[in-house]
Amino acid sequence: MQADIGLIGLGTMGSMLAMNIADNDFTVAVHNRTASRIPDFLDEAGALAERMTGHEDLADFVAAIAKPRNIILMVPAGAPVDAQIEKLRPHLDDDDMIIDTGNANFHDTQRRAAEAEAEGHPYLGVGVSGGAEGARFGPSMMVGGPEAEWERVRPIMEAIAAKFDGSPCVARLGDGGAGHFVKTVHNGIEYADMQLIAEAYGVMRDGLGMTAEAIGEVFDRWNGGPLQSYLIEISGKVATAEDERTGRPVLDIILDRAGQKGTGRWTAIESQMLGAPVPVIEAAVAARNLSAMRELRLQGAETYGAPDRRLTTDEVTIDTLEQALIAGKILCYAQGFDLLNRASAEYGWGLPMPRIAEIWRAGCIIRSAMLSDMAAALSEDPARNLALAPGFAARIRDTIDGLRKTAITAQAAALPVPALTSAVGYFDTLTSERTTANMLQAQRDYFGAHSFERVDQDGSHHGPWLGQHLKD
Ligand code: 6PG
Repeated sequence: MQADIGLIGLGTMGSMLAMNIADNDFTVAVHNRTASRIPDFLDEAGALAERMTGHEDLADFVAAIAKPRNIILMVPAGAPVDAQIEKLRPHLDDDDMIIDTGNANFHDTQRRAAEAEAEGHPYLGVGVSGGAEGARFGPSMMVGGPEAEWERVRPIMEAIAAKFDGSPCVARLGDGGAGHFVKTVHNGIEYADMQLIAEAYGVMRDGLGMTAEAIGEVFDRWNGGPLQSYLIEISGKVATAEDERTGRPVLDIILDRAGQKGTGRWTAIESQMLGAPVPVIEAAVAARNLSAMRELRLQGAETYGAPDRRLTTDEVTIDTLEQALIAGKILCYAQGFDLLNRASAEYGWGLPMPRIAEIWRAGCIIRSAMLSDMAAALSEDPARNLALAPGFAARIRDTIDGLRKTAITAQAAALPVPALTSAVGYFDTLTSERTTANMLQAQRDYFGAHSFERVDQDGSHHGPWLGQHLKD
């Protein structure tokens, strides 16, 4: 049998993806660096193994795939991808294509795609979202690479992708690193959405003194309304789960130190490089980093003592909190889509903005009810900030007071809510006819003669202080 496609990397995600491919009636050849994993995996695959072949030897693996070959790499992002490509290269024919489905940094994908092209090999960089379950039963996939190469694997990719109303949640979004860039921003939004939810949880837990179970019920209720989303749904589930060892809520025995593999951080870095601010995402990344500095936090708590963080439901109601999350969520997506727009122009990708919102509607971690409306708003005007789209402006008008009240009240009670407050700061700046940047310009001109623009005259100007303070 000549396999329709090859797959290297039988970790959790790779294994699930291979099973998904076989489940959709395609044949797949598999290979793994640690050879002992291959028979174990074929065992786990059960009846699906009939449409799979396992190969310890890389040359055998390549020979088992139908030409022109399409080979998925699902190995840890970074150096392992380069190492695997290096090993694979001597076995490839000209038209053989590598498809990197890991969480690659898009700069690496741009470089690898250029290197592959120079050697006559096509290359696709594909962001895959949805965790293990998504990989097995339908992920959302963001594809970067040339149109013709995408068409080559399109039937397989569409078959294995999640479906929203029957439409596959996979699309080619642009050349080179476009797919991995969009996946990075997806993850940045994921970090922000998670942090906003965690802050609402904190207000309920530490401010309102609610039990994990009661908080779980609130999330369940919210999941039936405008906040309906996978992340709200799983927040309800984790809040009501019980620890088998202690019988306590699992949430209460999980250490408050968050990990990260870096994609949220990359979103913040790229936003800084492109000058497209994503402050809610930055706040979420910083909150994770601070959470990880547990020793410092313990010292801080000891140095300053524990404040009384209790609130009453007169101060913040559950409905107010829901409003805060609705407004916060819209504002953080507005930032994410603005960043995508900026990157699209910078790299010449021509990102199809509404399509991105559409393929996030099923399979991925940030899937939510709001994405259909976002897709519609972006269809009207792909470059417009979402907060300015009439439908979302109406929702923000209805909820911004709840966001503001939650942020202010939580801060007054010393509850840390950096993402919620940053959403307020973003909104207030976004809606300021006159910011305070005139002061920055004056300072820059004073100390560095950087010049400024005037409100009443074109051109660049200096203040009366120029030269003066050097004489003083
Ligand atoms: C997804 C997720 C996934 C992510 C991990 C962990 O879309 O399926 O974004 O790709 O890598 O869930 O990410 P962190 O370790 O950075 O939280």
